[in-house]
Amino acid sequence: MENKKIILNMKMYMDITDVFNFLNDINTLPNNVIVCPEMIYLPYFANKNYNLALQNIYPTNEGAFTGEVSAQHAFKMGVNYVVVGHSERRKYFNESDEQINEKLLSALNNKLKVILCIGESLEDYELGKTIEVLKKQIEICLKNVEQKQEYKITVAYEPVWAIGTGKVPTNEEIDDTVKKIKEIILDLYNLKLEVVYGGSVSSKNIETLNTIESIDGFMVGGASTNPDEVKKMIKVVNN
Ligand code: PGA
Repeated sequence: MENKKIILNMKMYMDITDVFNFLNDINTLPNNVIVCPEMIYLPYFANKNYNLALQNIYPTNEGAFTGEVSAQHAFKMGVNYVVVGHSERRKYFNESDEQINEKLLSALNNKLKVILCIGESLEDYELGKTIEVLKKQIEICLKNVEQKQEYKITVAYEPVWAIGTGKVPTNEEIDDTVKKIKEIILDLYNLKLEVVYGGSVSSKNIETLNTIESIDGFMVGGASTNPDEVKKMIKVVNN
C-alpha cells in the first residue's frame, strides 16, 4: 500500500528567512509529500527535488491578467500540482464553485494534478448540513472531469471550523464523512478519487488520525512551516 499523502500548505506564513531555514533543514522530501509555498518563493523551492503545488491559479493560459499566474506557466516551472477551492479563497476572494471548476479544468488541461478543497462551515456542521453542502460543492467543482483524469485529482476534506482552530472532528466523524464523499463522487461522476483530511493536523494528532483507513492523507497548514513538525509527521506516516 502507498503511504498516505502529506500536503504542506504554507499559505502566506513565511518570510525569506523562514524559507531559507526550511530549505536548509529539509534537503529532500519523500515522494508522498507535496509542498505548496507562497508563489514568490517558487524558484527556491523548484531548485529542490520536491513535489510542488501552487496555492491558486488563474484559469487562462496567458494574457493581460495583471497579478495572476497560469497553470501552463507553472507547469513549465516544474510545478506538478495546484490547490483549488481552499476555504480561505472561497471566503476572502469570494470564489464560487463554478470558478473553482474552471480552475480545476484549466490545471488538468495543462498537465497539473489538482488538490480540490471542500468543507462545511461551523453553521452547516451544527445544522447537520455537512453532507448536503459537500455534495453541492462536489457536483459543481467536478463538472466535466473525464474518467481518464481521475488519478490526477485529490480531494481535501477540510471542515472550515477545523482550520487553524485546534478543533478536529473525531476519527469516526472523519471516517464517515470521507466515505460519504467518496460515495457521492462515485455516484455522481463515476470517479474514484483520493480524499485527504485537513484542519489542525500536527505532529500531536497525526498518529491518531493516521489510523483512519478511509483517508488517503493529510493537508497541513500551520504546522507545515516548521521543519521539526514536518519531519515528525513524515516519520509517523511513512514508518
Ligand atoms: P491548519 O490549515 O492546518 O492550520 O488548520 C489547514 C489548511 O488550511 O489547509
